[in-house]
Amino acid sequence: MARLAFSARGGRGGGFKSPGRGGRGGRGGGRGRGGGTPRGRGRGRGGARGGGRGGARGPGAKVIVEPHRHGGVFIAKGKEDVLVTKNLVPGDTVYGEKKIEVELPAPEGSANPIQKVEYRSWNPFRSKLAAAILGGVEKIHIAPGKRVLYLGAASGTTVSHVSDIVGPEGLVYAVEFSHRSGRDLLNVAKKRTNIVPIIEDARHPHKYRMLVGMVDCVFADVAQPDQTRIVALNSHHFLKTGGHFVISIKASCIDSTAKPEAVFASEVKKMKAEKMKPQEQLTLEPYERDHAVVVGIYRPPPKK
Ligand SMILES: C[S@@+](CC[C@H](N)C(=O)[O-])C[C@H]1O[C@@H](n2cnc3c(N)ncnc32)[C@H](O)[C@@H]1O
Repeated sequence: MARLAFSARGGRGGGFKSPGRGGRGGRGGGRGRGGGTPRGRGRGRGGARGGGRGGARGPGAKVIVEPHRHGGVFIAKGKEDVLVTKNLVPGDTVYGEKKIEVELPAPEGSANPIQKVEYRSWNPFRSKLAAAILGGVEKIHIAPGKRVLYLGAASGTTVSHVSDIVGPEGLVYAVEFSHRSGRDLLNVAKKRTNIVPIIEDARHPHKYRMLVGMVDCVFADVAQPDQTRIVALNSHHFLKTGGHFVISIKASCIDSTAKPEAVFASEVKKMKAEKMKPQEQLTLEPYERDHAVVVGIYRPPPKK
């Protein structure tokens, strides 16, 4: 497989309008909207693949849902284009997001010729992973059937979408040390049986080593100054050789006096010292300011 040369780049925008807090696009601004409004640009790489293929039409509202090029992720195309995931627990919502139901032809032999499928909108102002997808990230390494160790699960907002993506065959080990957020996370995990909630400090992976198996991907959003070290520690314990990491970096959490680009570069350097090879980096504008996502491979196999 051709591997991308590591390159840093800015986000490409990608289909959702800032919720209008002085153009800032911060987390709070996006709350309650459960989606966004499309703009002309940014459909290209962040958008759905294959116009019209595999689409489904929602009753009345004329919504077409198309698979995104990242497996398990979809784009609902209606009056607005909205990033969505297929709801693992139909009827249930996690953080007030919108549900979108579409009708599909049922598999042959079904009693009802029409099958209803429910999706949940995924707000990029509330999820760095969604922001990275709409920004055109090449790979997320989170797909149906994958096992993901998610560090910094908070109340389970993004975790719930990761749970949708990996589906019933996959697993999400979700680590969160705040008991307050952990309570919400536990409630989310009660309904979503592919989430293993772990209320522990991610700095001490040995405390949860009995609960976690080897994983395909470590995703981190802990917003801590020692985040790279935390990811490295967890990767050494649980990430398979040749597995991948996806790290969201909030520059101000690491060094509020340095330029964000300098912070990102110094984090990348730390990763390289830990057998973590960064392959891709992008910033998260317009959804988050001074944030970057770095995606890479752990203990890459030697080049032949
Ligand atoms: C930016 S928030 C995560 C938001 C979440 N990823 C989402 O998209 O819904 C960071 C979270 O990491 C948690 N956190 C910070 N340090 C941690 C640690 N050492 N171990 C576990 N969780 C930690 C915080 O309590 C907080 O809930």
